[in-house]
Amino acid sequence: MKVFSAMRGSVKKLLAACLMISVALVFAACSGAPEQRAPESVPTAETGQITAEAAAPAGETEKPSQETENPAEQTPARTNLVVYFSATGTTRGVAERIAALTGADLAEIVPAQPYTSEDLNYNDRTTRASAEQDDSAARPEIAEDISLRGYTTVFLGYPIWWGQAPRIMSTFVESHDFSGMTMIPFCTSGSSDIGQSDDTLAAQSGSGNWLQGRRFAGSVSEGQLREWIDETGITTAEKTLRLFIGDTEVPAEWENNASVGALIGLVESGPLTVSMSMYGGFEQVGPLGTSLPRDDAQTSADYGDIVLYSGDQIVIFYGSNSWSYTRLGHIGLSKQEMTDLLSAGNVNITLKYD
Ligand SMILES: Cc1cc2nc3c(=O)[nH]c(=O)nc-3n(C[C@H](O)[C@H](O)[C@H](O)COP(=O)(O)O)c2cc1C
Repeated sequence: MKVFSAMRGSVKKLLAACLMISVALVFAACSGAPEQRAPESVPTAETGQITAEAAAPAGETEKPSQETENPAEQTPARTNLVVYFSATGTTRGVAERIAALTGADLAEIVPAQPYTSEDLNYNDRTTRASAEQDDSAARPEIAEDISLRGYTTVFLGYPIWWGQAPRIMSTFVESHDFSGMTMIPFCTSGSSDIGQSDDTLAAQSGSGNWLQGRRFAGSVSEGQLREWIDETGITTAEKTLRLFIGDTEVPAEWENNASVGALIGLVESGPLTVSMSMYGGFEQVGPLGTSLPRDDAQTSADYGDIVLYSGDQIVIFYGSNSWSYTRLGHIGLSKQEMTDLLSAGNVNITLKYD
């Protein structure tokens, strides 16, 4: 993995040592259903044995109590929330898929000062993200407060930066009271496991019932996510992404990737109808009205294939073409059936998640 080939010299040795400790702890912790963790007295890689109180920086003893202070705030209809920070979109994709599977609301931790690509350059340890990780007291400001009022379960997602949660996650957990809530951390990374990052956040928060966290690749399958969510005891919604060409529902099978996760996020709150146009005698193409995460590669597409073109257009094939696309899925119909549906003039397609 690029990240690790980028690590050099003593940094690499230090991380290797941390990784060995983490791996031992992860193996010890990973068997069976997730453990419940008390936030108090959690050992962390950074500070050793600490208490929740000791983890809070000096002067940060006051927290909003129970997130219920403002009666004017509306109580959400749902009780599950996925809160995430994502600098480059990978954690966002997983967060969107967890939200879709659990019927949760979604909230993004947005930094007051956005991270530029130079800030995220891990090849230079002096750049912002790396420098923050080297400073355990760094607490990057969050642009807007996220209200947790009315939620009983909070999935908390973040990328791994130098083996830890980004410091902005500490800003978040230290500024909320999670009493009465089940906290379920998850992360994405190049290859590192979640390590001690979930323990550290639990200790820093000082409240809430924290479950053991889990690391995912951006390409985690829906089955793996469902299995993990089941282990947490949260009921997964039996929803599927459905595709209609005109009024005809077609049997679509979807890729497990960040693009489809974002597509689900797009239609989760209501159906999306896309006006398609015939093109090239082999496809229909239409604008999604927004850009999805993309991982374009030269692709030989054939009848039934559904792809993302240029990040913001959906294409469905009834013939074949080779171009740079991100695969979204496939419709299990014959060439003749696809031709009948798509070759007789422009169609509308509708995507529903229910
Ligand atoms: C500053 C920095 C440090 C990183 N450190 C690690 C690391 O220690 N281990 C790892 O596997 N990946 C590491 N990564 C890679 C990210 O964890 C990975 O790309 C993640 O999925 C990005 O999530 P995002 O797109 O939601 O920001 C690092 C990335 C950055 C920017």
